[in-house]
Amino acid sequence: MMAAEAPRKTYELVGQSARLKQVMRLAQKLGRGHWPVLLLGETGTGKELVARTIHRSGAGNNFVVVDCSAMVGPLMESELFGHVKGAFTGAQGNKTGLIEQADGGTAFFDEIGELPLDMQAKLLRVLQEKEFRPVGSLQVRKSSFRVIAATNRDLAKEVEKGTFRQDLYYRLNVVTMRLAPLRERKDDLPALINHFLHLYGNGHTLSSDLLDLLLNYEWPGNIRELENCIMHMVAVNTGPVLHTADAPSNLLNAAEARKLEALRVATQEAANGLPPPPAPSQPIVAPVLPLAEMERRAIIHALDYTKGDRVMAAHLLGIGRTTLYRKLKEYGISA
Ligand SMILES: Nc1ncnc2c1ncn2[C@@H]1O[C@H](COP(=O)(O)OP(=O)(O)O)[C@@H](O)[C@H]1O
Ligand SMILES: [Mg+2]
Repeated sequence: MMAAEAPRKTYELVGQSARLKQVMRLAQKLGRGHWPVLLLGETGTGKELVARTIHRSGAGNNFVVVDCSAMVGPLMESELFGHVKGAFTGAQGNKTGLIEQADGGTAFFDEIGELPLDMQAKLLRVLQEKEFRPVGSLQVRKSSFRVIAATNRDLAKEVEKGTFRQDLYYRLNVVTMRLAPLRERKDDLPALINHFLHLYGNGHTLSSDLLDLLLNYEWPGNIRELENCIMHMVAVNTGPVLHTADAPSNLLNAAEARKLEALRVATQEAANGLPPPPAPSQPIVAPVLPLAEMERRAIIHALDYTKGDRVMAAHLLGIGRTTLYRKLKEYGISA
Protein backbone atom coordinates (compact mmCIF):
# COMPACT_ATOMS: atom_id res chain seq x y z
CA MET A 1 0.00 0.00 0.00
CA MET A 2 2.74 2.41 1.01
CA ALA A 3 4.68 1.70 -2.15
CA ALA A 4 1.65 2.42 -4.29
CA GLU A 5 1.32 5.80 -2.63
CA ALA A 6 4.90 6.87 -3.29
CA PRO A 7 5.00 10.13 -5.25
CA ARG A 8 4.76 9.60 -8.97
CA LYS A 9 7.36 11.83 -10.55
CA THR A 10 7.32 13.04 -14.10
CA TYR A 11 9.95 15.08 -15.85
CA GLU A 12 7.44 17.06 -17.87
CA LEU A 13 7.77 20.85 -17.79
CA VAL A 14 4.24 22.17 -17.32
CA GLY A 15 3.00 25.71 -17.81
CA GLN A 16 1.69 28.12 -20.38
CA SER A 17 3.28 31.44 -19.44
CA ALA A 18 5.39 33.17 -22.07
CA ARG A 19 8.37 32.88 -19.73
CA LEU A 20 8.03 29.14 -19.34
CA LYS A 21 7.55 28.62 -23.06
CA GLN A 22 10.73 30.54 -23.67
CA VAL A 23 12.52 28.31 -21.16
CA MET A 24 11.21 25.19 -22.92
CA ARG A 25 12.38 26.41 -26.31
CA LEU A 26 15.81 27.35 -25.03
CA ALA A 27 16.20 24.06 -23.16
CA GLN A 28 15.46 22.12 -26.31
CA LYS A 29 17.91 24.19 -28.29
CA LEU A 30 20.63 23.92 -25.68
CA GLY A 31 20.18 20.16 -25.55
CA ARG A 32 21.57 19.85 -29.05
CA GLY A 33 24.75 21.77 -28.17
CA HIS A 34 27.34 21.12 -25.53
CA TRP A 35 27.70 24.46 -23.81
CA PRO A 36 27.86 24.74 -20.06
CA VAL A 37 24.61 26.17 -18.70
CA LEU A 38 24.14 28.11 -15.49
CA LEU A 39 20.60 28.03 -14.09
CA LEU A 40 19.62 30.83 -11.74
CA GLY A 41 16.47 31.05 -9.68
CA GLU A 42 14.93 30.75 -6.27
CA THR A 43 14.63 27.35 -4.74
CA GLY A 44 11.72 25.33 -6.13
CA THR A 45 11.50 27.18 -9.45
CA GLY A 46 12.38 24.08 -11.46
CA LYS A 47 16.13 24.36 -12.01
CA GLU A 48 16.75 20.64 -11.74
CA LEU A 49 13.78 19.85 -13.94
CA VAL A 50 15.07 22.24 -16.61
CA ALA A 51 18.52 20.67 -16.34
CA ARG A 52 16.95 17.26 -16.97
CA THR A 53 15.03 18.68 -19.93
CA ILE A 54 18.22 20.06 -21.47
CA HIS A 55 19.93 16.73 -20.89
CA ARG A 56 17.09 14.72 -22.43
CA SER A 57 17.10 16.92 -25.52
CA GLY A 58 20.72 15.89 -26.07
CA ALA A 59 22.44 12.63 -26.84
CA GLY A 60 24.05 11.61 -23.53
CA ASN A 61 22.70 8.81 -21.35
CA ASN A 62 23.67 9.38 -17.76
CA PHE A 63 22.45 12.34 -15.75
CA VAL A 64 24.39 12.64 -12.52
CA VAL A 65 23.30 15.00 -9.75
CA VAL A 66 26.07 16.47 -7.62
CA ASP A 67 24.49 18.09 -4.59
CA CYS A 68 27.15 20.64 -3.73
CA SER A 69 25.44 21.59 -0.47
CA ALA A 70 26.13 18.06 0.73
CA MET A 71 29.78 18.24 -0.35
CA VAL A 72 31.16 18.90 3.11
CA GLY A 73 33.37 16.94 5.43
CA PRO A 74 36.24 14.59 4.78
CA LEU A 75 34.37 12.28 2.41
CA MET A 76 33.36 14.84 -0.21
CA GLU A 77 36.46 14.39 -2.30
CA SER A 78 35.86 10.68 -2.51
CA GLU A 79 32.19 11.30 -3.35
CA LEU A 80 33.26 13.40 -6.32
CA PHE A 81 36.37 11.60 -7.51
CA GLY A 82 36.07 8.15 -6.01
CA HIS A 83 38.82 6.36 -4.13
CA VAL A 84 40.95 3.26 -4.35
CA LYS A 85 40.99 0.47 -1.83
CA GLY A 86 42.90 1.43 1.29
CA ALA A 87 43.03 5.14 0.44
CA PHE A 88 41.92 5.88 4.00
CA THR A 89 40.63 4.02 7.03
CA GLY A 90 37.37 2.43 6.00
CA ALA A 91 38.06 2.48 2.25
CA GLN A 92 37.53 -1.25 1.87
CA GLY A 93 37.13 -1.33 -1.89
CA ASN A 94 37.40 0.87 -4.94
CA LYS A 95 34.69 3.45 -5.30
CA THR A 96 33.62 5.21 -8.47
CA GLY A 97 32.98 8.90 -7.91
CA LEU A 98 30.27 11.06 -9.42
CA ILE A 99 32.70 12.68 -11.88
CA GLU A 100 33.48 9.30 -13.40
CA GLN A 101 29.81 8.28 -13.46
CA ALA A 102 29.03 11.38 -15.50
CA ASP A 103 31.45 10.43 -18.28
CA GLY A 104 29.70 10.80 -21.63
CA GLY A 105 26.61 12.32 -20.04
CA THR A 106 25.63 15.33 -17.96
CA ALA A 107 26.79 16.37 -14.51
CA PHE A 108 24.30 18.63 -12.77
CA PHE A 109 25.98 20.64 -10.01
CA ASP A 110 23.12 21.68 -7.78
CA GLU A 111 23.66 24.62 -5.38
CA ILE A 112 27.09 25.20 -6.91
CA GLY A 113 27.45 28.31 -4.73
CA GLU A 114 27.81 26.05 -1.69
CA LEU A 115 30.92 24.28 -2.99
CA PRO A 116 33.93 24.99 -0.72
CA LEU A 117 36.87 26.80 -2.34
CA ASP A 118 39.25 23.83 -2.31
CA MET A 119 36.64 21.72 -4.12
CA GLN A 120 36.09 24.55 -6.59
CA ALA A 121 39.75 24.34 -7.53
CA LYS A 122 39.51 20.58 -8.05
CA LEU A 123 36.35 20.92 -10.11
CA LEU A 124 37.93 23.58 -12.30
CA ARG A 125 40.79 21.22 -13.03
CA VAL A 126 38.41 18.48 -14.15
CA LEU A 127 36.55 20.87 -16.41
CA GLN A 128 39.73 22.18 -17.97
CA GLU A 129 41.79 19.01 -18.29
CA LYS A 130 38.95 16.48 -18.44
CA GLU A 131 40.93 14.34 -16.06
CA PHE A 132 41.01 13.64 -12.35
CA ARG A 133 42.61 11.40 -9.78
CA PRO A 134 40.61 9.21 -7.35
CA VAL A 135 41.62 9.64 -3.71
CA GLY A 136 44.64 7.50 -2.94
CA SER A 137 45.39 6.77 -6.59
CA LEU A 138 48.47 7.77 -8.51
CA GLN A 139 46.79 7.25 -11.82
CA VAL A 140 44.95 9.94 -13.68
CA ARG A 141 41.57 9.05 -15.21
CA LYS A 142 39.55 10.66 -17.93
CA SER A 143 36.00 11.90 -17.76
CA SER A 144 34.23 14.18 -20.17
CA PHE A 145 30.70 15.39 -19.58
CA ARG A 146 28.33 18.22 -20.09
CA VAL A 147 28.12 20.69 -17.19
CA ILE A 148 24.92 22.23 -15.94
CA ALA A 149 25.14 24.18 -12.69
CA ALA A 150 22.40 25.73 -10.60
CA THR A 151 22.28 28.20 -7.75
CA ASN A 152 19.89 30.48 -5.92
CA ARG A 153 22.78 32.74 -4.94
CA ASP A 154 24.17 35.77 -6.73
CA LEU A 155 27.39 34.16 -7.94
CA ALA A 156 28.82 37.40 -9.34
CA LYS A 157 28.61 38.84 -5.84
CA GLU A 158 30.25 35.75 -4.38
CA VAL A 159 33.09 36.26 -6.85
CA GLU A 160 33.48 39.85 -5.67
CA LYS A 161 33.52 38.71 -2.06
CA GLY A 162 36.14 36.09 -2.90
CA THR A 163 34.01 33.12 -1.88
CA PHE A 164 33.62 31.85 -5.44
CA ARG A 165 36.49 31.46 -7.92
CA GLN A 166 36.24 33.82 -10.83
CA ASP A 167 37.80 31.39 -13.30
CA LEU A 168 35.29 28.71 -12.38
CA TYR A 169 32.47 31.24 -12.62
CA TYR A 170 33.45 32.14 -16.19
CA ARG A 171 33.73 28.50 -17.13
CA LEU A 172 30.24 27.69 -15.85
CA ASN A 173 28.53 30.85 -16.93
CA VAL A 174 28.57 30.44 -20.70
CA VAL A 175 24.81 30.32 -21.15
CA THR A 176 22.68 31.68 -18.31
CA MET A 177 19.02 30.82 -17.82
CA ARG A 178 16.98 32.59 -15.24
CA LEU A 179 13.87 30.89 -13.88
CA ALA A 180 11.28 33.35 -12.68
CA PRO A 181 9.62 32.82 -9.30
CA LEU A 182 6.11 31.42 -9.52
CA ARG A 183 4.55 34.66 -8.20
CA GLU A 184 5.84 36.40 -11.36
CA ARG A 185 4.25 33.89 -13.71
CA LYS A 186 0.95 33.14 -12.09
CA ASP A 187 -0.54 32.22 -15.45
CA ASP A 188 1.30 28.92 -15.01
CA LEU A 189 -0.73 28.17 -11.88
CA PRO A 190 -3.88 26.63 -13.43
CA ALA A 191 -1.89 24.20 -15.55
CA LEU A 192 0.42 23.29 -12.68
CA ILE A 193 -2.49 22.77 -10.28
CA ASN A 194 -4.15 20.47 -12.80
CA HIS A 195 -0.90 18.64 -13.38
CA PHE A 196 -0.31 17.91 -9.69
CA LEU A 197 -3.97 17.05 -9.06
CA HIS A 198 -3.73 14.56 -11.86
CA LEU A 199 -0.40 13.24 -10.60
CA TYR A 200 -1.23 12.86 -6.90
CA GLY A 201 -5.01 13.06 -6.72
CA ASN A 202 -7.56 10.40 -7.34
CA GLY A 203 -10.16 12.30 -9.30
CA HIS A 204 -9.97 15.15 -6.77
CA THR A 205 -11.27 18.57 -7.77
CA LEU A 206 -11.09 21.97 -6.06
CA SER A 207 -13.84 24.17 -4.70
CA SER A 208 -13.79 27.62 -6.28
CA ASP A 209 -12.86 29.19 -2.90
CA LEU A 210 -9.85 26.95 -2.66
CA LEU A 211 -8.86 27.70 -6.23
CA ASP A 212 -9.04 31.41 -5.41
CA LEU A 213 -6.86 30.85 -2.40
CA LEU A 214 -4.25 29.02 -4.47
CA LEU A 215 -4.31 31.65 -7.23
CA ASN A 216 -3.86 34.52 -4.78
CA TYR A 217 -1.06 33.03 -2.71
CA GLU A 218 2.50 34.24 -3.35
CA TRP A 219 4.20 30.81 -3.25
CA PRO A 220 7.54 31.77 -1.65
CA GLY A 221 8.63 28.12 -2.01
CA ASN A 222 7.60 28.23 -5.67
CA ILE A 223 6.56 25.09 -7.54
CA ARG A 224 7.94 22.77 -4.89
CA GLU A 225 5.64 24.39 -2.34
CA LEU A 226 2.68 24.08 -4.71
CA GLU A 227 3.46 20.43 -5.34
CA ASN A 228 3.74 19.70 -1.60
CA CYS A 229 0.56 21.65 -0.93
CA ILE A 230 -1.46 19.54 -3.36
CA MET A 231 0.09 16.31 -2.11
CA HIS A 232 -0.83 17.36 1.42
CA MET A 233 -4.42 18.22 0.55
CA VAL A 234 -4.98 15.02 -1.36
CA ALA A 235 -3.49 13.02 1.51
CA VAL A 236 -5.64 14.53 4.26
CA ASN A 237 -8.85 14.51 2.25
CA THR A 238 -10.77 11.45 1.19
CA GLY A 239 -13.68 13.17 -0.53
CA PRO A 240 -13.47 14.09 -4.21
CA VAL A 241 -13.74 17.85 -3.67
CA LEU A 242 -10.99 19.71 -1.84
CA HIS A 243 -12.04 22.74 0.18
CA THR A 244 -10.33 25.74 1.70
CA ALA A 245 -10.30 23.95 5.06
CA ASP A 246 -7.99 21.29 3.58
CA ALA A 247 -5.34 23.88 2.67
CA PRO A 248 -2.10 24.05 4.68
CA SER A 249 -2.29 26.63 7.46
CA ASN A 250 0.35 28.91 5.96
CA LEU A 251 -1.91 29.52 2.96
CA LEU A 252 -4.86 30.31 5.19
CA ASN A 253 -2.74 32.59 7.37
CA ALA A 254 -1.45 34.43 4.31
CA ALA A 255 -5.01 34.95 3.05
CA GLU A 256 -6.02 36.26 6.49
CA ALA A 257 -3.04 38.62 6.50
CA ARG A 258 -3.98 39.92 3.02
CA LYS A 259 -7.51 40.66 4.20
CA LEU A 260 -6.27 42.50 7.29
CA GLU A 261 -3.82 44.50 5.19
CA ALA A 262 -6.57 45.54 2.75
CA LEU A 263 -8.67 46.59 5.72
CA ARG A 264 -5.77 48.54 7.20
CA VAL A 265 -5.16 50.39 3.93
CA ALA A 266 -8.85 51.20 3.59
CA THR A 267 -9.04 52.53 7.15
CA GLN A 268 -5.87 54.52 6.65
CA GLU A 269 -7.27 56.12 3.53
CA ALA A 270 -10.48 56.98 5.33
CA ALA A 271 -8.47 58.46 8.21
CA ASN A 272 -6.37 60.51 5.76
CA GLY A 273 -9.59 62.07 4.59
CA LEU A 274 -9.42 60.82 1.05
CA PRO A 275 -12.67 61.65 -0.69
CA PRO A 276 -14.99 58.68 -0.79
CA PRO A 277 -15.54 57.28 -4.25
CA PRO A 278 -18.10 59.34 -6.15
CA ALA A 279 -21.63 58.16 -5.69
CA PRO A 280 -23.39 57.24 -8.91
CA SER A 281 -25.55 60.12 -10.05
CA GLN A 282 -28.37 57.84 -10.98
CA PRO A 283 -29.34 54.63 -9.27
CA ILE A 284 -28.00 51.74 -11.27
CA VAL A 285 -30.68 49.34 -12.29
CA ALA A 286 -29.24 46.10 -13.50
CA PRO A 287 -31.17 44.68 -16.42
CA VAL A 288 -32.93 41.49 -15.55
CA LEU A 289 -31.65 38.71 -17.74
CA PRO A 290 -33.11 35.34 -18.50
CA LEU A 291 -31.42 32.69 -16.36
CA ALA A 292 -30.13 30.90 -19.42
CA GLU A 293 -28.45 34.08 -20.64
CA MET A 294 -26.83 34.58 -17.23
CA GLU A 295 -25.58 31.03 -17.33
CA ARG A 296 -24.21 31.52 -20.84
CA ARG A 297 -22.37 34.68 -19.73
CA ALA A 298 -21.02 32.97 -16.60
CA ILE A 299 -19.57 30.18 -18.74
CA ILE A 300 -17.97 32.61 -21.17
CA HIS A 301 -16.57 34.60 -18.26
CA ALA A 302 -15.11 31.47 -16.65
CA LEU A 303 -13.50 30.36 -19.93
CA ASP A 304 -12.10 33.82 -20.35
CA TYR A 305 -10.72 33.80 -16.84
CA THR A 306 -9.04 30.42 -17.29
CA LYS A 307 -7.80 31.30 -20.77
CA GLY A 308 -9.89 28.51 -22.26
CA ASP A 309 -8.97 25.83 -19.73
CA ARG A 310 -12.24 23.88 -19.56
CA VAL A 311 -11.31 21.68 -16.62
CA MET A 312 -10.46 24.72 -14.53
CA ALA A 313 -13.52 26.59 -15.80
CA ALA A 314 -15.74 23.70 -14.67
CA HIS A 315 -14.05 23.89 -11.25
CA LEU A 316 -14.79 27.59 -11.02
CA LEU A 317 -18.38 27.15 -12.06
CA GLY A 318 -18.87 24.35 -9.59
CA ILE A 319 -20.08 21.90 -12.23
CA GLY A 320 -18.66 18.72 -13.65
CA ARG A 321 -16.64 18.63 -16.81
CA THR A 322 -19.26 16.71 -18.78
CA THR A 323 -21.95 19.16 -17.70
CA LEU A 324 -19.79 21.98 -18.96
CA TYR A 325 -19.26 20.27 -22.30
CA ARG A 326 -23.00 19.74 -22.65
CA LYS A 327 -23.73 23.39 -21.91
CA LEU A 328 -21.05 24.56 -24.33
CA LYS A 329 -22.82 22.61 -27.03
CA GLU A 330 -26.22 23.82 -25.90
CA TYR A 331 -25.19 27.49 -26.04
CA GLY A 332 -23.05 27.04 -29.13
CA ILE A 333 -19.94 28.34 -27.33
CA SER A 334 -16.76 27.28 -29.07
CA ALA A 335 -13.19 27.48 -27.79
N1 LIG B 1 7.30 23.70 -14.89
C1 LIG B 1 7.12 22.64 -14.08
N2 LIG B 1 6.22 21.70 -14.38
C2 LIG B 1 6.04 20.63 -13.58
N3 LIG B 1 6.70 20.43 -12.44
C3 LIG B 1 7.62 21.34 -12.07
C4 LIG B 1 7.89 22.49 -12.88
N4 LIG B 1 8.87 23.21 -12.28
C5 LIG B 1 9.18 22.55 -11.15
N5 LIG B 1 8.45 21.42 -11.02
C6 LIG B 1 8.51 20.46 -9.90
O1 LIG B 1 8.69 21.22 -8.71
C7 LIG B 1 9.63 20.60 -7.85
C8 LIG B 1 10.79 21.55 -7.62
O2 LIG B 1 11.54 21.68 -8.82
P1 LIG B 1 13.14 21.61 -8.86
O3 LIG B 1 13.55 21.41 -10.27
O4 LIG B 1 13.65 20.61 -7.87
O5 LIG B 1 13.47 23.09 -8.36
P2 LIG B 1 14.86 23.72 -7.95
O6 LIG B 1 15.94 22.80 -8.45
O7 LIG B 1 14.87 25.05 -8.61
O8 LIG B 1 14.83 23.83 -6.44
C9 LIG B 1 10.05 19.31 -8.52
O9 LIG B 1 9.28 18.24 -8.01
C10 LIG B 1 9.74 19.55 -9.98
O10 LIG B 1 9.44 18.34 -10.63
MG1 LIG C 1 16.96 21.93 -6.41
